[in-house]
Amino acid sequence: MTGRLEGKVALVTGAAQGHGLAEARAFAAEGAIVVLADVAVEAGAAAAADIGGTAEFAALDVSDEAAWRSVVDGIVARHGRLDVLLNNAARYRTGPLLDESPQSLARLADVNLYGPFLGIQAVAKPMTAGGGGSIINVSSTAGLTGYAGHGAYGLSKWALRGLTRVAAVELAPLGIRVTCLIPGAVAGPMLESNVPPEVLADPAHWAGTPLARAGRPEEVARAAVFLASDDSSYVTATELVVDGGSTGTG
Ligand SMILES: NC(=O)c1ccc[n+]([C@@H]2O[C@H](COP(=O)([O-])OP(=O)(O)OC[C@H]3O[C@@H](n4cnc5c(N)ncnc54)[C@H](O)[C@@H]3O)[C@@H](O)[C@H]2O)c1
Repeated sequence: MTGRLEGKVALVTGAAQGHGLAEARAFAAEGAIVVLADVAVEAGAAAAADIGGTAEFAALDVSDEAAWRSVVDGIVARHGRLDVLLNNAARYRTGPLLDESPQSLARLADVNLYGPFLGIQAVAKPMTAGGGGSIINVSSTAGLTGYAGHGAYGLSKWALRGLTRVAAVELAPLGIRVTCLIPGAVAGPMLESNVPPEVLADPAHWAGTPLARAGRPEEVARAAVFLASDDSSYVTATELVVDGGSTGTG
């Protein structure tokens, strides 16, 4: 059976662990050549080796414009094309809005917002040359509503939704679709850094989530495969929420 991403070359940022790793694994299973990019060099290289096959690792700090150019140029030199960019890398932290400084906000935005922005700029040309592509920006339900303590993170994730729409409109004539994937609470280090295990294990914690549990990275990855593949060929400028229904009940 042919995979849904057969013949495509995909770049996944923040792929050393968590969703990015699950997404890279799913892309590879669907036949893509996957480049896992991350600042975590050892873990990222190990993740690519674990996926095996044609998966490869590239060191990339998404806030570094020159590094984007070098990674994208390398992919085009090795594989001749780049079809999919999954802007997944992000930093997460919480804290009261009134304690936020412009400097700490900027440090988070450098990764969570300017990272995807630089990525879009870096891949547009090779994608166009290859006949088009799919760019997926990973936001969060913190970018759909206002969670206490999520001022800086939420701001970056709200902004990504706007970036998605503008990029979708501007890049559509180039054959590039731009979409936004919006996970809710998904099991992994990011969620566990914010919510203690005993709270996560308590059914009462999930009362506002119709599916009554945390998501799994693999469930986010399946949505990413859809947005990356030609199955979503008439889908752009839109959002796919993978949150067990948590934001659909208000
Ligand atoms: N986990 C959740 O519950 C959840 C919920 C909603 C949205 N999200 C979003 O999903 C995405 C993945 O989340 P996760 O839980 O897998 O996160 P994670 O913290 O487990 O993984 C993030 C990865 O990004 C990498 N990274 C950090 N800064 C980087 C940089 N400057 N350049 C390149 N790589 C960098 C890290 O090394 C790490 O491998 C993020 O965009 C996050 O905001 C997560």
